[in-house]
Amino acid sequence: MSRPTVQSPEAESEQTAVAEPSADTRRCWLRAYATVRAETERRAAPLSAEDQVVQSMPDASPTKWHRAHVTWFFEHFLLRPFSPAYRPFDERFSYLFNSYYVAAGPRHARPQRGLITRPGLAETTAYRAYVDAAVAALIESAVDDAAIFPVVEVGLHHEQQHQELLLTDTLHAFAQNPTRPAYDSHWQWPDGAPHGDGVAADVRLAGVHSIGAEGDGFSFDNERPAHRIFLEPVRVARKLVTNGEWLEFMADSGYTKPGLWLSDGWAVVEAENWNAPGYWRLIDGAWFSMTLGGFRPVDPALPVCHVSYYEADAFARWAGKHLPSEAEWEIAAKTGALEDAFGKLWQWTRSAYSPYPNYVAEPGALGEYNGKFMVNQMVLRGSSLATPEGHSRLSYRNFFYPSARWQFSGLRLAEFDH
Ligand SMILES: [Fe+2]
Repeated sequence: MSRPTVQSPEAESEQTAVAEPSADTRRCWLRAYATVRAETERRAAPLSAEDQVVQSMPDASPTKWHRAHVTWFFEHFLLRPFSPAYRPFDERFSYLFNSYYVAAGPRHARPQRGLITRPGLAETTAYRAYVDAAVAALIESAVDDAAIFPVVEVGLHHEQQHQELLLTDTLHAFAQNPTRPAYDSHWQWPDGAPHGDGVAADVRLAGVHSIGAEGDGFSFDNERPAHRIFLEPVRVARKLVTNGEWLEFMADSGYTKPGLWLSDGWAVVEAENWNAPGYWRLIDGAWFSMTLGGFRPVDPALPVCHVSYYEADAFARWAGKHLPSEAEWEIAAKTGALEDAFGKLWQWTRSAYSPYPNYVAEPGALGEYNGKFMVNQMVLRGSSLATPEGHSRLSYRNFFYPSARWQFSGLRLAEFDH
């Protein structure tokens, strides 16, 4: 997948042998920076000040916090090291808006981000504008592009990740509201492959393949290096699992048969009283679900969404199949034959989130970005309806704890050829 939004200038302009970046290079980075920053504001625009400060659970962050945190990222990792004249907007913001970078200093407790009513929206907006001006000045005056632009690029991809979280976290907050507000009352599921219209042939795979990021395009460190894997003969489903299929699982007592569940998953089913995917409510015998467009009837033809790894795994067991490994997913997606590989739902795989062979974390504090989370989480592949344009690629590894279901997460199945 290319990255049309965060477009590397190398893709558009001739690289020269001198260190001084060309005017074209500067212009491309300025445009990429402005485009991504504007998308964050576009997503926040429908939200009131009250909407933007609420934190509905420790895993979800307030919109205002997202807007400030991604700004802090540029301030801390780009402006402080590379712009000697830069003066921070407010020294206290490092404590408020550092997320988890221990090497970057002490930070506010994550579950208490919703208690930060100051700075308010206006000051947060001013913070963004202040940093935007400083970043633009740095790009325009950059001498050492090899040092600066990779940090700009990772900062933009980081901000895109938070753009997705801004929507998932807002949806979770709105789902707690008995009036069930709509983020966008005109919102519709993205167009794509039709669902629930019969059986499509699986994608058959076997043998030695290569997975992981290759080439010069951007990738996070956890996607590297590319390496060989071996696949036993396997078939990966072309289609995502639908709500209609999930209703069959529910009708067959899927949520009340412990034999279908991993022990940890069954413990969550019992503790949380799960009997349906996240945000589903049964009203007068009909299932409804919270969406970005508000509270809507569950459409059996659409892919099932807001399921955890535990649920996806139990469904696969019920179906007599399994979830694809991330290697199976990536090789199948590479054939181009998977429907909705990107743009609707992240798809759970049965792969634990762990380092690839010969993985090396980024140097310095940015090394905390991915590597330190490589335990107890499962990999999801593809991208979702909330993923910003230009942020999807075949080698992308998303990861969440197996009980998480507030993301736009679904599944496709696989089965071994015997
Ligand atoms: Fe972050």
